[in-house]
Amino acid sequence: MSNRFCEINPGCMDLTGKVALVTGSSRGIGRAIAIRLAQAGADVAINYFRHRSKAEETAAEIQAQGSKALVVGANVAEEADVSKMFAAIQENFGRLDVLVSNAASGILKSALELNMRYWRWTMDINAGCLLPLAQGAVKLMAGHSGSIVAVSSLGAVRAIPNYAAVGASKAALESLIRHLAVELAPIGVRVNAVSAGLVETDAVKHFPNREQMITESLRRTPAGRLTEPDDVANTVLYLCSDMAKMIVGQTVVIDGGYSIVG
Ligand SMILES: NC(=O)c1ccc[n+]([C@@H]2O[C@H](COP(=O)([O-])OP(=O)(O)OC[C@H]3O[C@@H](n4cnc5c(N)ncnc54)[C@H](OP(=O)(O)O)[C@@H]3O)[C@@H](O)[C@H]2O)c1
Repeated sequence: MSNRFCEINPGCMDLTGKVALVTGSSRGIGRAIAIRLAQAGADVAINYFRHRSKAEETAAEIQAQGSKALVVGANVAEEADVSKMFAAIQENFGRLDVLVSNAASGILKSALELNMRYWRWTMDINAGCLLPLAQGAVKLMAGHSGSIVAVSSLGAVRAIPNYAAVGASKAALESLIRHLAVELAPIGVRVNAVSAGLVETDAVKHFPNREQMITESLRRTPAGRLTEPDDVANTVLYLCSDMAKMIVGQTVVIDGGYSIVG
């Protein structure tokens, strides 16, 4: 049976002819997002920091879906790297329709153990990067509409052990999303965020209390399982699509109900 809704609304979740940049898409959640956007028809620029071979694996999977893939190394915390990345996108694709700011890093320590070097590292990669990324993206979105989605976490609004710097950086990110959303909606660029519950990626291996976090998340999640990269990717695709045209400046939580349990 055909999908009547998509027949009546051509383009409802179709990104054919569009170009997406997903930062930190060599691994984990970013990789799932890049592949999902490619499955919807987009050509994708895959950004990595240290693991080029992993980024090439994502690119191969995207090419297997019939989309074009461009692998670009850049530290998103370095403005010069970000500029070069947009120059490569301009040269290879000549446009950008979707920016997913997903790359993140951060020092996992209690607030009293943090120093300013750790703080700046975390803030620059997780929050500060969105400024040059959004500025570069908007230039390549000139003349047509676009969508920006940032990937946040529940630590933006909750206190999680060893998460002081990362949580504060995600709170800054979510605030910046709202400010950008108001500035950019009038020029046709929608800005939103997604905030995920615990997803078992490489990032979680660095938590000193990993096992306890997983057990506790499973116990508290009404939906009965952890959030998976594809759950996040599906929501990002929706937010980038024409289906979400009136969603502006929001942070959509994807956690199986974890954060609403009292
Ligand atoms: N995992 C979770 O439980 C969870 C929950 C909520 C939200 N999130 C958010 O989801 C996003 C992805 O997390 P993840 O768990 O998939 O992380 P991950 O598995 O550790 O992957 C991180 C990705 O970011 C890239 N990256 C790191 N620093 C970078 C930099 N300075 N410049 C460019 N790229 C950089 C990495 O590239 P290389 O491979 O080259 O190092 C990698 O592709 C993050 O924003 C994270 O905060 C994660």
